[in-house]
Amino acid sequence: MKAVKTLGQFIIEKQAEFPYAKGELSRLLRDIGIAAKIVNREVNRAGLADLTHDNGSVNIQGESQKKLDVFANEQFISALQHGGECCVVVSEESDEYIDIDSEISKNAKYIVAIDPLDGSSNIDVNVSVGTIFSIYRRKTADGRASIKDILQRGSEQVAAGYVIYGSSTMLVYTTGKGVNGFTLDPSLGEFCLSHPKMQIPDDGVIYSINEGYYSHFPDGVKKYIKYCQVEDVTTNRPFKARYIGSMVADLHRNMIKGGIFIYPANASDPKGKLRLIYECNPMAFIIEQAGGKASNGYQRILDLDVTELHQRTGIFIGSKNMVTKAEEMMRRFS
Ligand code: AHG
Ligand code: MN
Ligand code: MN
Ligand code: MN
Repeated sequence: MKAVKTLGQFIIEKQAEFPYAKGELSRLLRDIGIAAKIVNREVNRAGLADLTHDNGSVNIQGESQKKLDVFANEQFISALQHGGECCVVVSEESDEYIDIDSEISKNAKYIVAIDPLDGSSNIDVNVSVGTIFSIYRRKTADGRASIKDILQRGSEQVAAGYVIYGSSTMLVYTTGKGVNGFTLDPSLGEFCLSHPKMQIPDDGVIYSINEGYYSHFPDGVKKYIKYCQVEDVTTNRPFKARYIGSMVADLHRNMIKGGIFIYPANASDPKGKLRLIYECNPMAFIIEQAGGKASNGYQRILDLDVTELHQRTGIFIGSKNMVTKAEEMMRRFS
């Protein structure tokens, strides 16, 4: 029987590798893990907990919030407020950033950006959803953290991760030294190491894009979609189309099997739909740490200037050879 290694044990074991080995990042990851277990419990009983359907409110994205969006947001913010390691929270579901000005957090060094519930449209139909988190170290030395502590490039992240509430619940994260995956064991109530040193294959045969928007796509994307659909046994084409509607679920599948996920800037979303700070930057950090690639079709995601809290970007992310091929098409045709 393989020895069980919990997330907590793993974090302590890796303590020495953390850039700031005094335990703050460890405690921060622990706090996020606790909130993820609470959200998992409610995701698994959403229909019974009156947590499906709309909350009746609209977020700054212009999206009608699901009850579970609001619940998950409250859980993660509360865990971060009371954990003592986080000084600011940025959330998809909160218009402004949340300045945690409390006695317990007065020496807190970390900024956490979060998409508390990714793939909200899937909650009511019982399809996988997720949580995405991104962690930065504040840049200003003292006093209240400011907007320049928050608008940092993705390359400045000290950690990033996601939770997938799927057929099993997993927490996958990186601190810049590879990617490790933990599966929640409900009988223990612990995330246990199940996928050490995750690596995304350099190539894949899955492409993931919402083809319903085909007419809005730039020509480079249209050409890449047609490339995926052409018969060519030497390059294992046609590829398979898979699109779940939860970025976390689509990227987790591609992490395991190989593949590319594309949500490009397009005629109806000229800046793209997905958000840079709490969706694209964390997922780009994780995928790069697993040997993959992430760009906006032209420029590396982690190098993009961050100028607004809820900034959007196009994204091409996944197996590096597939992303490179798509970028070639964008350069030639768009
Ligand atoms: P969220 O539920 O956090 O708003 O994110 C939804 C995102 C992402 O998870 C998914 O890949 C994408 O929106 C789906 O968008 P479309 O429905 O436009 O394809
Ligand atoms: Mn949303
Ligand atoms: Mn999302
Ligand atoms: Mn969301």
